[in-house]
Amino acid sequence: MTITNPGGNAAGTDTSHSAVEVSDEELKSMSREELARLGAKLDGVELVEYGIRYEPGSPADKRAERAVSAWFLLTAIFAIAFVGIFLFWPHEYQTAYSDSQLAYALYTPLIGLTLGGSLLFLGIGVVALAKKITPHEVAVQTRHDGFSAEVDRKTLSGEVFDVVDKSGLVKRRGVLKGSLVLAGGGLGLAATVGALGGFVKNPWAEGADSQLWVTPWAPLADGTKIRLTQQDGTPVRPEDLEAGSMSTVYPGVSGGAKFSDAPVMLFRVRPNQGISIRTGQEGFQFGDYYAYSKICTHVGCPVSLYEQQTGRVLCPCHQSQFDLYDGMRPVFGPASRPLPQLPIELDSEGYFVATSDFIEAVGPGFWENGKYPAWGSSPKEQS
Ligand code: FES
Repeated sequence: MTITNPGGNAAGTDTSHSAVEVSDEELKSMSREELARLGAKLDGVELVEYGIRYEPGSPADKRAERAVSAWFLLTAIFAIAFVGIFLFWPHEYQTAYSDSQLAYALYTPLIGLTLGGSLLFLGIGVVALAKKITPHEVAVQTRHDGFSAEVDRKTLSGEVFDVVDKSGLVKRRGVLKGSLVLAGGGLGLAATVGALGGFVKNPWAEGADSQLWVTPWAPLADGTKIRLTQQDGTPVRPEDLEAGSMSTVYPGVSGGAKFSDAPVMLFRVRPNQGISIRTGQEGFQFGDYYAYSKICTHVGCPVSLYEQQTGRVLCPCHQSQFDLYDGMRPVFGPASRPLPQLPIELDSEGYFVATSDFIEAVGPGFWENGKYPAWGSSPKEQS
């Protein structure tokens, strides 16, 4: 019979070169290599070179196998390292001055490096496999549109299995097969652990002491209240501020200026300047002094521009404005929540201290906001 490639060549102008005379008996009796060559011929492909790269068992063959196996073994090692680091590396949030901060800071880079390295080495291994192990082939192929004919599918499967045969992946190459299985298994495990990992840890496990509920303004375990300090740690007294001025202060703990949720604006308003106090926050001020979080409730930029005449505080990022005289209510821009107020008083030495932590969420959107409309009542408690 005459078998013709239905698609002809890519341009569809000349298909005569892809018509081949072959009987049914001949087709049935063809070896895989012959089927592969027939498939190439039907596609208008000239196989200039086709065959095994190296003599099986020759030094060159063993070298190629070792090289490819090494990439797959690296894939497996990095995938297993990813799983180990993902599960066992100390990943709980550590503050900037904690001894464990470096280990915590390395967590994300390490899981990225190990998983990324594993995928990279798998890619290199596959390319190396194609270049060093699979049969050498120089061919030119035309394309066709639509569904492939039966003969095309049959010859293609012959070609694929012939490549597997010639690569020795079934009968030989135990090391290569083993490394491939390891690479696939390791990566599969890494993908599974990565996908399920997020369901394992409960960020609220410590209840009211969970890291996301507290800021460095929370009194210490023995009840010591935290002082308001300058960036260099100098504690602040009332006489340090002039009427109508504002100063940025930080919690008086080691590395207090490094906490992202800690910066506070301490205002001293002019005498008799009326300020609205939000419900439940009565007494948070000390005389004419008011302390508010500096972290914008839109997306967390530091609100830094204090307009003394109007009592407006401006956020430079997206131009939100907060009205100091109206309890830091947002009056312009995208921010929708007031800046949280920090309750303050003086300690026995006359320095400002925080009476308690904030009683509401600092900064932008907080995923428990809807769940706890009265954020201060649960689970954070005022001391
Ligand atoms: S972060 Fe302040 S307005 Fe957007």
